[in-house]
Amino acid sequence: FIPNTGGSGGGGVLAKDALGDDVKGSDWAKKFPYPARSLVQGLKGDAHYLIVKQDGSLEDYAINAVCTHLGCVVPWNRAANKYMCPCHGSQYDATGKVIRGPAPLSLALAHCDEVDGKIVLSPWKETDFRTNTAPWWK
Ligand code: FES
Repeated sequence: FIPNTGGSGGGGVLAKDALGDDVKGSDWAKKFPYPARSLVQGLKGDAHYLIVKQDGSLEDYAINAVCTHLGCVVPWNRAANKYMCPCHGSQYDATGKVIRGPAPLSLALAHCDEVDGKIVLSPWKETDFRTNTAPWWK
């Protein structure tokens, strides 16, 4: 797997933290240990959640935090174990699958890989494993 980090169509991008620095997987997991979920800047400049698992490794997918209703960034509610949009009340389960409207669709996915210690997000073009449908965000 060789990501295209040049930022051109179809390739991956290096995840950036709030300061605009590249995100290192090991640092991130220490800073935001399970069950915290925190945001990086990823594909298209959208905020994405990286998901640190219980064993300290990162999930191989990231979740785009942009609500599919009207585009608010959806906070992760650790106590409720779901994403809850403050704008109009939409909810998404821990995988980002929509469980309450008005949001019409689940949160978009991205692949999340560690390359030379840095986190790379790349477009998810495969079947959406949560719904077994083609990805709507393609
Ligand atoms: Fe999230 Fe409306 S923008 S529910």
